Amino acid sequence: MHHNILEIKQLKTYFFTRSGVVKAVDSVNFGIRRGESLCLVGESGCGKTATALSILRLIDSPPGKIIDGEIRYHDEDLLRCSGKRLRQIRGHGIAMIFQDPQSSLNPVFTVGDQIAEQIRMHLKLKRRPTMERTLHLMEQVGIPRARERMKDYPHQFSGGMRQRIMIAAALSCGPEILIADEPTTALDTTIKEQILDIFRDLKQQREMSILFITHDLGTVAGIADRIVVMYGGRIAEVGTVYDIFDQPKHPYTHGLIDCLPDISARSDRLTSIPGMIPSLIDPPDGCIFSPRCPRSMMVCRQKRPKEVIVSKEHLVACHLYS
Ligand SMILES: Nc1ncnc2c1ncn2[C@@H]1O[C@H](COP(=O)(O)OP(=O)(O)O)[C@@H](O)[C@H]1O
Ligand SMILES: [Mg+2]
Repeated sequence: MHHNILEIKQLKTYFFTRSGVVKAVDSVNFGIRRGESLCLVGESGCGKTATALSILRLIDSPPGKIIDGEIRYHDEDLLRCSGKRLRQIRGHGIAMIFQDPQSSLNPVFTVGDQIAEQIRMHLKLKRRPTMERTLHLMEQVGIPRARERMKDYPHQFSGGMRQRIMIAAALSCGPEILIADEPTTALDTTIKEQILDIFRDLKQQREMSILFITHDLGTVAGIADRIVVMYGGRIAEVGTVYDIFDQPKHPYTHGLIDCLPDISARSDRLTSIPGMIPSLIDPPDGCIFSPRCPRSMMVCRQKRPKEVIVSKEHLVACHLYS
């Protein structure tokens, strides 16, 4: 058995809006193992960020609320521990890089001060070791002339460099798990590869677990150990990189793969899966993918599919396999 250091069980996170209840996370289960890169993929709006924010109880409330479930971290349930304990875990045990880096860096403080602040808050080091650690972290994420650049403000850095600073800040207290929400999405191809390299290094050098979130399945091939495919607030499929790319089961996963740019240039490639992303308010009965699914059957519109184990590491929620 693999040991999960974080386990998400039956998680339900809803947003109570004027137009209705958005079931952003609707009974989601998965675990993160020590030292692995786990990638959470799915089109935008399928509940990836809501899942990540729920782990650290950072869902805006109102309108959001975690309705049910368990988030096991070692022997604790993060949904039930005290606020004080949770603040200890944030940063120290589980750190997060948020989807929008602009909103996470404060424009009025130097980047050095912002990383140092994290270290001061969580590790309570003296001034000098704090500054040394800040410098070391900035060098580790590949910021050139780090000693000088510590004194610069966020706007003086490029998008790629700002993302490196976000990573440095997240690493400041040596977390066991790093959650990175779309960390490469706003970046162009070359910079994106450089940032992915940092994540690969982190996994190798430290025994860190990474939850890497992206809407782009293409990004994850080079970094994931396992992949969780999410659709409409639910898990569609879970497997190793090999399972997902070479033995995909769920028609949604097939759809995502068909949309990947192809070097062998098949001309009939899709650019996106036909049909619309469902509203998560009053989702249809049955499988939430059935309205878009090319293989939809009668049962798919009636019953929500259970998760079926197809091989050792491979799990799919689809009536074709039950
Ligand atoms: N603050 C909010 N208020 C209302 N609905 C929200 C809020 N945040 C997210 N949602 C809804 O929850 C669903 C999942 O969103 P999100 O987790 O951001 O998706 P993803 O990260 O996969 O793009 C979407 O339908 C989105 O509109
Ligand atoms: Mg998101």
